[in-house]
Amino acid sequence: MGCDLSVKVGNLLFSSPVIPASGVWPYDDDFWCGEKLDGIGAICTKAISLNAKQGNKGVRLWETPAGILNSIGLQNIGVRGFIEEHLKKVLSCPVPVIANVVMEREEETAETLKHLQDAGGIAAAELNISCPNVDGDGMAWGIEACSAARAVASARKVWNGPLWIKMSPQAADSIGVAKAIESEGADALVVANTWLGMGMDMKTGKPAFDRVVAGLSGPAIFPLALRLVWQVAGAVSIPIVGCGGVTSASDCAAMLLAGASAVEVGTAFFREIKAGTDICSGLPKFIEQHRVSSLSEIIGMAKHS
Ligand SMILES: Cc1cc2nc3c(=O)[nH]c(=O)nc-3n(C[C@H](O)[C@H](O)[C@H](O)COP(=O)(O)O)c2cc1C
Repeated sequence: MGCDLSVKVGNLLFSSPVIPASGVWPYDDDFWCGEKLDGIGAICTKAISLNAKQGNKGVRLWETPAGILNSIGLQNIGVRGFIEEHLKKVLSCPVPVIANVVMEREEETAETLKHLQDAGGIAAAELNISCPNVDGDGMAWGIEACSAARAVASARKVWNGPLWIKMSPQAADSIGVAKAIESEGADALVVANTWLGMGMDMKTGKPAFDRVVAGLSGPAIFPLALRLVWQVAGAVSIPIVGCGGVTSASDCAAMLLAGASAVEVGTAFFREIKAGTDICSGLPKFIEQHRVSSLSEIIGMAKHS
């Protein structure tokens, strides 16, 4: 069709704004080449921590009427395992790959980033600051501006490439957190991770998850994430990647109109493995509707009128 669906997040150019979010794109060979990549602009990896993580015990996924609750616990094989087992395949992928890195203790995360930097080839690091600060008060790094800033500053010291920060939507002052992240030299904000929820197992009469709370994702959170994208886009100058409940081309276009430069899509892939292809193929309509010549022209357009 020849429609220009390309977008830029900072200096990175993607052929489409659709990026599978962390935790949903498997490492199976056929996901890194061929037709599964149709309509995909970049891929975000599963969480990577310094050492392997077993993940949480008990129930890990719980369906709700308009989304899923998850308590996976950042299960992964650690950065050395990732480099040994997956990096070759990941780097042979024709689309840019973003490494999702768990914010742990500052020195641990610095070491993880160093390993990735030495290995080379990763387009951007996405730092997930929704994890507890175990040296601090145990609250997630991204909840307050000062701890978020510290996390970003420590990552910025070691990572020379584009640094994306994946915000927690649980912050009381998201704008303050976003500004603090920007001022520490982040290149983009991913807005945002899952929203805390809870499931009740009505058979046992007990909370569904061992840790009681879990992260809600999927269509239920789309209006919440859209609102946050709009607010954060109005407060910072760095690019924003919208994330939360995007399921259709219309959701994706709404995120762009609100100010996101690209979107990450998670839960939609569990329902339809071709979700990225489907979302992307519905986007040309919005170029026409807004009488522009390329998709990137609609970014932030809702704010300009
Ligand atoms: C099963 C599952 C695993 C996830 N794993 C991670 C992860 O490892 N790191 C991370 O930053 N986010 C993780 N997420 C959050 C997603 O990347 C995304 O931020 C969230 O699901 C909201 O997007 P969605 O509504 O499109 O799913 C996970 C989500 C799900 C459902």
